[in-house]
Amino acid sequence: MKILVVDNHPVMLKLMKGLLEKEGHEVQTAINGLTALSLLQTHTPDIIFTDLIMPRIDGKKLCEIIRKTPHLQNICIVILSAIAAEDEEKFFEYGANACVAKGPFNRMSKHILQILRRLEQETISMDQVIGLDTVFPHQITKELLSIKKQFDTTLKGMIEGFLEVTPEGDMIYANPAAISIIGQPEEQLLASNFLDLFRQDQRKRVEVVLQCDGGPPKSIPIDFPVKLNGKEVSVQVLPITGGDHRSLILILNDVTERKKMESKLIQAQKMEALGTLAGGIAHDFNNLLMVVQGNVSLILVDMNPSHPHYEMLKSIEKKAQNGSRLTSQLLGYARKGRYEVRPMLLNQLVEETAGAFGRTRKDIVIHMDLYRDLYPLEADSGQIEQVLMNLLVNAADAMPDGGTLFLNTRNVTHQEIESDLYEPVPGDYVLLSVTDTGIGMDQQTMTRIFDPFFTTKELGRGTGLGLASAYGIIKGHNGYINVRSEVGKGATFLLYLPASKGEVEEQAEKSEDILKGSETVLLVDDEEQVLEVGEKILKSLGYEVLTVDSGENGVELYKTNRDQIGLVILDLIMPHKGGRETFDALREIHPEVKVLLSSGYSMNEQTMEIIKRGCKGFIQKPFSIMELSQKLREVLGNPKP
Ligand SMILES: Nc1ncnc2c1ncn2[C@@H]1O[C@H](COP(=O)(O)OP(=O)(O)OP(=O)(O)O)[C@@H](O)[C@H]1O
Ligand SMILES: [Mg+2]
Repeated sequence: MKILVVDNHPVMLKLMKGLLEKEGHEVQTAINGLTALSLLQTHTPDIIFTDLIMPRIDGKKLCEIIRKTPHLQNICIVILSAIAAEDEEKFFEYGANACVAKGPFNRMSKHILQILRRLEQETISMDQVIGLDTVFPHQITKELLSIKKQFDTTLKGMIEGFLEVTPEGDMIYANPAAISIIGQPEEQLLASNFLDLFRQDQRKRVEVVLQCDGGPPKSIPIDFPVKLNGKEVSVQVLPITGGDHRSLILILNDVTERKKMESKLIQAQKMEALGTLAGGIAHDFNNLLMVVQGNVSLILVDMNPSHPHYEMLKSIEKKAQNGSRLTSQLLGYARKGRYEVRPMLLNQLVEETAGAFGRTRKDIVIHMDLYRDLYPLEADSGQIEQVLMNLLVNAADAMPDGGTLFLNTRNVTHQEIESDLYEPVPGDYVLLSVTDTGIGMDQQTMTRIFDPFFTTKELGRGTGLGLASAYGIIKGHNGYINVRSEVGKGATFLLYLPASKGEVEEQAEKSEDILKGSETVLLVDDEEQVLEVGEKILKSLGYEVLTVDSGENGVELYKTNRDQIGLVILDLIMPHKGGRETFDALREIHPEVKVLLSSGYSMNEQTMEIIKRGCKGFIQKPFSIMELSQKLREVLGNPKP
């Protein structure tokens, strides 16, 4: 007969081979289940003698696989094992035909030959172990030890913590992962109770899952982990029943990192949603403020300051300006910002802004240490100024009785940016740090300061938008913002902005002049009141005005009046034909058309793209008469004398 012998002990294989070949059989051997299976791909023996406990696929698995493989199904399998006798599981349940207890070889060989003889006559099926009386306890132990070794190796390699505890919670085994999660030396751990590892408020939950009441095993799920040694841990409980002693296997999973990632994701989604909301509100508000501010300024232009309503109108105008400051904070936060991005020098801006600020707060001493060869930035100076102002105002608020402010700039690389929250994009950065000697903050406050509407200031004094918008603006510039602070020890805000290689142009002095003109301006906006006030403002500046309420009508009107129209003021967000499509259609009629985009959003990528394609400029609503008058001359050139 063709026989395959599978056993992880080479001596056993040798003995079996000798025995069977002497009887005239053709014998092959395999050192474990895996080797046996690969042999079985090319050879089909009549009978397999296999050991039960082996590394790399044990005898039981081997049986099961053979019974499920069609061309091997009929092979007769005989188990040779010492522990088969002790195992409650019956060998025939997993497909063996017979089982011989391993004992001294001369006795065992008799049983084997007996079986072979029977096999020559019939197919056998026995549910009794043959030769049990010859099994020696030490052989059982040997086999059991080999199983243990295998489990030990597995448990040591597991990334999950594996703990065995008594029903009372005393720890009796811990694998290395469990020891590291718990963070106590093994000898200390094995003498203690699992429940004692938890804080009082968590203990109850753990106690409940350890209670084995015969029902399905309980667990502490990943979604709702417990705190253990500063980590978030899930616990799966597997009760071991039967046998002499009852115990519980606990599988511990450290889910701290996973939880952190999840909450970061949720936070990011929340920010995104809030940003969209804030941006939308700001946009609509800007249109509304445009109408208020425009009308008030128009009235004020012709009003004598002695008029009884003059001061009231002035105060409305002031409030409208405050409103537009608020919307610009919201837009900053919503990252709808980044308009007029050009190479700029941060030192100059810091000097000017801090200088102006210092004049308003004489009790604050400002120290500036600005690095002379600072890299230029590619940024919107208006927005960076807004960020700096927000930081200065906060610092001043933190020093109600005066103090010192340190403003510091220097060149750094991404490696010097400290954060465990993000991985900075490699490159050169400019660092601006703003340090005050004020009241400082505790850790908990610090985690929330960039949230919109988070403020610790009394009602009416803070809106909680300063840092939220600073954060949005710095992010919008691909930069980073960090904070260091301790209660009573002041605060330091660190701004990192990517360095630029661009050439910095001289900035024209800002003038306060209202510039007039006489050209014809076509005003396109879907909001009637914006059109009305815009028309009045333009007329007051001397321009001829045509107004239309949609992109389609704008294009129609331009077709018939292109020679007369000197400039088009085009709203960006309109239903149907929006600013971009209208711009394209106008350019088809006249490639050199002069278009000034306007929007309640600050400039975004879409606007930038239109500007790159030849649009002449952008003005953000609400704009003042002065701003508009200057923008118009910028695009149209000096007025004809
Ligand atoms: N330099 C600082 N020192 C101490 N606490 C600060 C400092 N800067 C900010 N904070 C804390 O962060 C909170 C949020 O600041 P943020 O600028 O966003 O809003 P705000 O100043 O309260 O209101 P707003 O800026 O809208 O007027 C403040 O209320 C304060 O508790
Ligand atoms: Mg503030």
